[in-house]
Amino acid sequence: MSQDPPIPRDPAAAGQERWDTMASEDITGLSLPLWRRFCDQLHVWILREWTGGTRFASAFKTDLFDEVVGAGLVDWLLSVSDRVEGIDVAAGIVEQALQKHAELRARQADVRQLVEHPSGSFDLVVSNSTLDHFDDQRDLAVALAELSRILVPGGLLFLTLDNPRNPVVGLRNRLASRWTAPGPLIPYFMGHTVPLSALIPLVTAAGLQVERTGYLMHVPRVLFLHASRWFSPDSRPGQSLLHFMQGCEMLDHLPTRAWTGHFSVVLARKPTK
Ligand SMILES: C[S@@+](CC[C@H](N)C(=O)[O-])C[C@H]1O[C@@H](n2cnc3c(N)ncnc32)[C@H](O)[C@@H]1O
Repeated sequence: MSQDPPIPRDPAAAGQERWDTMASEDITGLSLPLWRRFCDQLHVWILREWTGGTRFASAFKTDLFDEVVGAGLVDWLLSVSDRVEGIDVAAGIVEQALQKHAELRARQADVRQLVEHPSGSFDLVVSNSTLDHFDDQRDLAVALAELSRILVPGGLLFLTLDNPRNPVVGLRNRLASRWTAPGPLIPYFMGHTVPLSALIPLVTAAGLQVERTGYLMHVPRVLFLHASRWFSPDSRPGQSLLHFMQGCEMLDHLPTRAWTGHFSVVLARKPTK
């Protein structure tokens, strides 16, 4: 009896399946209120600093995980943009984000293939740690080309990726490539990432001009992620812990910043020609 040949597995579909599974499980375990408050405040702080009070017509966010496990960045995006749209490859994440944020426009989509998004649709794209979750390292360039395409000339891309020069991130990602099952230290799939020195030429190759680079989140993450379980962000000790964690950003002024920063950060502009 003849057998059908095996259907080649579409890596994008495999990725989607993985994130759909995460979204369908109880992700409240990933929602540590104090930790999420810290992450959101840090991102809003750097976005505010780096975009310097600019007002945007339309902003785009490349995943909606932050908006599900915490307040996310949507409120800040709405405060500086007339229209905010977000995507996530996991339909369940999109659904939960929409339940929490009625003003958000959101749909399920893959950042590597934004078929529903015409070129030149947005003047701000915020991509915080989405493009470091691909199996294939070539997909980083594919996604950057898509984000460049949907920007209007003169528009800004704010991008963060896991910084592999931070020894803890490097070790975690090496372990994650061996143990694919989620666990307490590695709660979801980690993909390929690159150091800032390799990211800059990739952003440039996507047709964008890099305006600023840096590192973000210098707090020893593993320790404080776990410490943040014990306190409410509104309690007095919780507030003190938050202040201490924010204070760790002072490490950004030291020559060791490339080793202490959890994320590499790039701000790039699409040239007006
Ligand atoms: C675990 S989160 C981390 C990112 C989050 N912004 C943060 O900083 O905590 C990764 C998110 O990216 C989404 N994601 C992964 N691959 C994607 C893709 N190709 N396109 C759009 N979203 C994707 C996942 O569904 C998930 O919501």
